[in-house]
Amino acid sequence: MVRQNLVAERLVIEHYRDLIRHFGDKDPTTRRMLEHILEEEEGHATHMHDLLVAHEGEGTLPAHTS
Ligand SMILES: [Fe+2]
Repeated sequence: MVRQNLVAERLVIEHYRDLIRHFGDKDPTTRRMLEHILEEEEGHATHMHDLLVAHEGEGTLPAHTS
């Protein structure tokens, strides 16, 4: 279940990154709001990753690198 949550968090992160790219300089207020949400989602993903490593050990799922 932690693994599925981590996968879901990473999908959400990619979606927010796409949205941030989409808004770019066209709508800086919306972009900043999305960047704030992205930061929170990255924290969730880090937490899920740390839980997974604590329960299953290193290397069970590659660290997110983008
Ligand atoms: Fe989340």
